[in-house]
Amino acid sequence: MAANRKKAYPLITKASKKQHTEMVRDIFATIPEGYDLLNRILSLRRDVAWRRFAVGRMKFFKTNRLLDLATGTADLAMEAALAYPHIDIVALDFVKEMIKRGQRKIAKQGLSKRIQLLQADALFLPVDDSAFDVASIAFGIRNILERLKTLKEMVRVIAPSGQVMVLEMHLPGNKYVRKVYRSYLNHFLPRIAGCFTKNQAAYNYLSDSITNFPRPAVFVGIMGEAGLHKIEQYALTLGTTYLYVGYKA
Ligand SMILES: C[S@@+](CC[C@H](N)C(=O)[O-])C[C@H]1O[C@@H](n2cnc3c(N)ncnc32)[C@H](O)[C@@H]1O
Repeated sequence: MAANRKKAYPLITKASKKQHTEMVRDIFATIPEGYDLLNRILSLRRDVAWRRFAVGRMKFFKTNRLLDLATGTADLAMEAALAYPHIDIVALDFVKEMIKRGQRKIAKQGLSKRIQLLQADALFLPVDDSAFDVASIAFGIRNILERLKTLKEMVRVIAPSGQVMVLEMHLPGNKYVRKVYRSYLNHFLPRIAGCFTKNQAAYNYLSDSITNFPRPAVFVGIMGEAGLHKIEQYALTLGTTYLYVGYKA
């Protein structure tokens, strides 16, 4: 435990692509136990509402299948399974410790027949073209440097008229709210997290990753470059989180 507390990760701006991927793998392999609880505490339970908001905008019209990338402990996948009893879900993540935790939660909810969990990289989706109505990623794309490639993969695997949905955290646009939020991210959040996790450095990374994520207008540009159209954006909770929905032509 003491060794974990001393962990330190490079700043995102200083890490090479390889170091970044290794850091992300290490972080998520060490935090699954307290991950859900800390999400609820640090977001004042807004994370549940944000995922629910995203799920409420999903449209199943052809394949009746959802692909959830960077699924972590499978909260979005389970929310969708409960909201749409007629769909089947493939949920993937490249960290097996997160998947294992997700697997237990899915079994407990009796959803194992409808949610298939895979260990896979979002950059190389092991699924056929046009096989899903919706491809989603919640709080995942911030952790992946190759965002355009990931989005192109998501476009590849959805059917024409299908949706790509991205839920992600941002620094708020309003400068006063941003100032308060920055101070929360840099000072309070790592301290609160330190009381619940063996790997406090993971939560320094969380602040760093939010600070370095592109502004909404820039991210919408990347979605457009990936081939998505009619892109909708919803600012949630003072713009600390956004839902983006783009459509395949
Ligand atoms: C902040 S968690 C989000 C988990 C979940 N979607 C949620 O809503 O709570 C980010 C997840 O992205 C996963 N991840 C990061 N990079 C990935 C990649 N290239 N391929 C697959 N999963 C990845 C991590 O392992 C981690 O489980």
